[in-house]
Amino acid sequence: MNPATFSALLNAEGHAALAQLACADLSDVHTLPLLTALRRTLPPDVASAVLTLARLRQRAARKFSRAAEMFFTPDALEQASGEQIALWRARRFATLHPAHLADLGCGIGGDTLALAALAGCAVYALDRDPLRLRMARENLAVYGRSAYLLQADLQHPLPLRGLEAAFFDPARRAAGRRIFSVRAYIPPLDVLHGWHFSAWGVKLSPGVRLDELRTYCEQGAGVEFISLAGALKEAVLWGGALGFRGRWATRLELDGFGETLCPAELPPLPLSEPRAVLYEPDPSIIRAGLLSELAARLGIPLYRLDPQIAYLTGERYTPSPWARAWPIWEWLPFNLKRLRATLRTRGIGRVTIKKRGSPLTPEGLLRRLKLSGDGAEAVVVLTQVNGRHSALVCGPPYRA
Ligand SMILES: C[S@@+](CC[C@H](N)C(=O)[O-])C[C@H]1O[C@@H](n2cnc3c(N)ncnc32)[C@H](O)[C@@H]1O
Repeated sequence: MNPATFSALLNAEGHAALAQLACADLSDVHTLPLLTALRRTLPPDVASAVLTLARLRQRAARKFSRAAEMFFTPDALEQASGEQIALWRARRFATLHPAHLADLGCGIGGDTLALAALAGCAVYALDRDPLRLRMARENLAVYGRSAYLLQADLQHPLPLRGLEAAFFDPARRAAGRRIFSVRAYIPPLDVLHGWHFSAWGVKLSPGVRLDELRTYCEQGAGVEFISLAGALKEAVLWGGALGFRGRWATRLELDGFGETLCPAELPPLPLSEPRAVLYEPDPSIIRAGLLSELAARLGIPLYRLDPQIAYLTGERYTPSPWARAWPIWEWLPFNLKRLRATLRTRGIGRVTIKKRGSPLTPEGLLRRLKLSGDGAEAVVVLTQVNGRHSALVCGPPYRA
């Protein structure tokens, strides 16, 4: 979008057109009539920018409570931090009571919004993209917040002096493709070496390779894995005064509240065949490798089913937001005929299939099970039990 088209979105006609589309059905089948109607009052480039933005605003409602008034480009929305996680991170910075904070690679301001809400803190938000900076300014205004917005290339010396803390969010996608190595992030993670903040955090992909972070961790940085409503969303590398040893797991709910589990140097969990209950830890716990800490949190003995797989088992069910759980009715080394017979004997006609560490696909197995669709419901879990491909026949999940 060029600067003139963006300005047109901000004027009275652009505003009115966007307001009209706010609650409309904008699905693809309506594109032609919507554009035709918009073009009656707006130039073609503005009409299509209005439709694109209106669609992005609807999509962004998952990330921002005031999405309906905000500005995005498709890529910038995809890369933007959602409100809950951005606020969670901002609270970590708040523990230091910084007077100034840099937001490096601010995009349309997903993080700037949260950082700018910190009391007594002036935020300096930098990006090389002038359109994103303009959008960030508008988005801050929507929330009644402000920041100093600066166009700058982070690969050059920063135009900032005397700032104690910084948040850095490098791009992890290029031309629609995910970037896996921190060395290929845009800009690469090692620009950090040229900066001298006394406290800092960097947003990373949740699948980040931990070996690539070793030098940072040896210098006191720690990695926090964050899940939101049970889905793993991101990793944050925290350094300087915000650094810590090892890996943390943080679990957030959609209301933005949550808690963190920290490493406690506990011995690894022993192995066991399946017992009465199957536990699936929150993905942040799995990524942070805090299975023993989970058992300690639940206050019950837990065992691993397999050295490579993060399913746990125990004698009884203890409700916790940190793990989902199922009663195990029966388990067997995987064999299609035996599994079919077991389900038939138990009168099970419908199953949900879950898997971890199994070469089978749930759809493929479902077809081959040829279930009647009538009768009781079960959950079949395909996994490894101490290196042996197995099927666990479980009841419906416990409701925590
Ligand atoms: C992942 S996005 C940031 C998203 C932002 N934190 C948010 O929540 O909206 C990364 C940003 O880094 C910016 N960027 C990439 N390379 C840069 C560079 N060399 N200098 C400055 N900004 C850069 C991109 O323009 C992009 O807006």
